[in-house]
Amino acid sequence: MAEILFVNACVREEQSRTLKLARHFLARYGELHPEDVITERNLMRDRLQPLYRENLEEEEALLAAGRLDQPMFATARQFAGADKVVIAAPFWELSFPAILKIYLERISVVGVVFRYNEHGAPVGLGRAKKLLLITTRGGDFSLPETQWMEMGARQLEALCALYGIPQFQCLCAQGMDDVRNDPAQLLEQAMGRAEELVKDF
Ligand SMILES: Cc1cc2nc3c(=O)[nH]c(=O)nc-3n(C[C@H](O)[C@H](O)[C@H](O)COP(=O)(O)O)c2cc1C
Repeated sequence: MAEILFVNACVREEQSRTLKLARHFLARYGELHPEDVITERNLMRDRLQPLYRENLEEEEALLAAGRLDQPMFATARQFAGADKVVIAAPFWELSFPAILKIYLERISVVGVVFRYNEHGAPVGLGRAKKLLLITTRGGDFSLPETQWMEMGARQLEALCALYGIPQFQCLCAQGMDDVRNDPAQLLEQAMGRAEELVKDF
C-alpha cells in the first residue's frame, strides 16, 4: 500500500480545468491501485500563512531545539511521509498560484524533508520517489521562444532535486486561452496523455 499525497492548488476549484485533468488522472490511478491511499490537501481550504518574521523566528527556534514533532511542521511531515506526490496547479504569472508557493515554504524544512550532508549537498529525507505536476496554461510554453519563460514546472523540478525526489514529471494542457485553439479538445488530448502516464506512475 502506497500513500499518495494530492496537493490541490486549483484556485477556481470545480471550475478549474487543471482540477478536471488531475481528477481524471487520480481516478485512473485509483482504479489501477485500489490498495493505495490518496490524501488530498486542498490549499484553498487550508489557507496556510506565508512565513512572516514571527513564524519564521518560531520555526527557527523550534528547529534549533530539535522539536520537529510540533504542529508547525505537520505539513512538512505529511509531505515527507508520502510515497508519491501529485500537485495540481494552474499556470499563473509564469509559474503557479501563491498558495502553492506558501505550501512550498511550509514543507521546505531542513531536518524533515531534506538535510545538507558534510559536503554541503542536499539529501532527501522523505519517502517520495515521484512527483507529478498537473497544470494547464493559457499560452504555449513548449516553443523555443517561450520555453525559457516557464518557471512553474522548472521550479518544482529543481525542488525535487533539493528534496531528493528522483523522478519529476509534468502533465499539461497548454495554449488553453489562445483564440486559435479549442480548449475542450486540448483538455481531451491531455486526458489521453494522463491515461498513458498513469500506467507507470
Ligand atoms: C491570475 C491568473 C494568472 C495567469 N497567468 C498566466 C500566465 O502567466 N501565462 C499564461 O499562459 N496563462 C496564464 N493564465 C491563464 C491560465 O494559465 C489558464 O487559463 C489555465 O488553464 C487556468 O487553469 P484553471 O482552469 O485550472 O484555473 C493566468 C490565469 C489567471 C486567472
